[in-house]
Amino acid sequence: MPKIIFAINAYRDFAKKLTLKNKKIILGQVEIKKFSDGEIYARLLDDVKGKEVFILGTTAPPSDNLLELLLLVNAAKENQAKKVCAVLPCFGYERADRLVKKGEAISARMMAEIVRVSGVSQIIAVDLHSFRVVDYLKKKIKLTHLSAINVLATAIKKMNLNKLVVVAPDNGALVNAKRIAKFLRCPVAWMEKFRPEHNVACIRALRGAPVKNRTVILSDDMIDTAGTICAAARFLKEAGAAKILVTATHGILSGPAIERLRQAPVEKIIITDTVPLSKEKMIDKMRVVSLAEMMAKNL
Ligand code: R5P
Repeated sequence: MPKIIFAINAYRDFAKKLTLKNKKIILGQVEIKKFSDGEIYARLLDDVKGKEVFILGTTAPPSDNLLELLLLVNAAKENQAKKVCAVLPCFGYERADRLVKKGEAISARMMAEIVRVSGVSQIIAVDLHSFRVVDYLKKKIKLTHLSAINVLATAIKKMNLNKLVVVAPDNGALVNAKRIAKFLRCPVAWMEKFRPEHNVACIRALRGAPVKNRTVILSDDMIDTAGTICAAARFLKEAGAAKILVTATHGILSGPAIERLRQAPVEKIIITDTVPLSKEKMIDKMRVVSLAEMMAKNL
C-alpha cells in the first residue's frame, strides 16, 4: 500500500527528515491557513484515497498544533485514506495523568481520547511520561511506543567518559535512568524531588550510588522550564560531582529554561529533535541528536 506523510506546520522540517530516512514514504504537501477570526483551514494537496497516511504532529502547546493535527487526520479520513496513523514525537498535556487534587482535569487521558476519536487507527509516540499515559493511549488503538534511550546513550558512549554514574532527578525518571546505566554499564542514583507549586522544583535528597568525583549523566524525559535539571545539577555539584552532563528526550525549553541552563553547572545538554528547536534556543553546550532514523524505520 502506498505510504504518504503530512505534517502540521511546526513539524514540516521533521517530516522531511523522516522521508529522507525512509524512501518508501512520500512527503505530502498541505495547505494550512487561518480565517480572519483565527479558525484554522487545512487541506491535503496530495491524493490519499486508498493510501496509508501518516499525520505528523503534536498535542503540545500552542493549541493550534492540536487543531492542525485533528484537521489533517479528518482530511485524510474524509478523503478516503485506507489507514491513518498519528505520529506524535512529543505527546503534550501528559503531565496531569491522574487526579492529585480534587477538581482537577486529567489532561493526559483527555488528549488520548481526543486523538483516538479523531479516527486514527494507530499512534506512534516517543518516551511517554508514565505508564498511565501508555495505558490511556493503548485503549482500543494500536500504540507503537518508541524510546530515545538507545540514541541518547549511544551519544554519551561515543564521548568516552570515565567514572560514570547515571542520576534520575526524580522517581519518574528512574526507569529510563536504569536503562541508560545498563547500556553504559555504570551505577545509578536517584533524587527525591518535590514541587511546592507548579513549575517549581526542589531536590531534598540523593540516593543510590555515590556521585563524588564522578561524571554524572543526569537523565530526564523532558526539560520544560529546566527547574528540575538545574536544581538537580546544583545539588549534585554540592555533593561533589566532577562533571555533569544532561540527557533528555523532549527539549520543551519554555520560559526561563535557556537562561537557567546557560547558568547551570552542566557541561553538555543532549536532547533529541522531538520538539522543534528555534535557533535562539541552541546554546553552545546544547547538542541535538536526531530520532528521525529510528522513527522512520517504524513508519
Ligand atoms: C516531571 O515529572 C518530568 O519528568 C520532568 O522532570 C519535568 O516535567 C521537567 O519540568 P521542568 O523542566 O519545568 O522542571
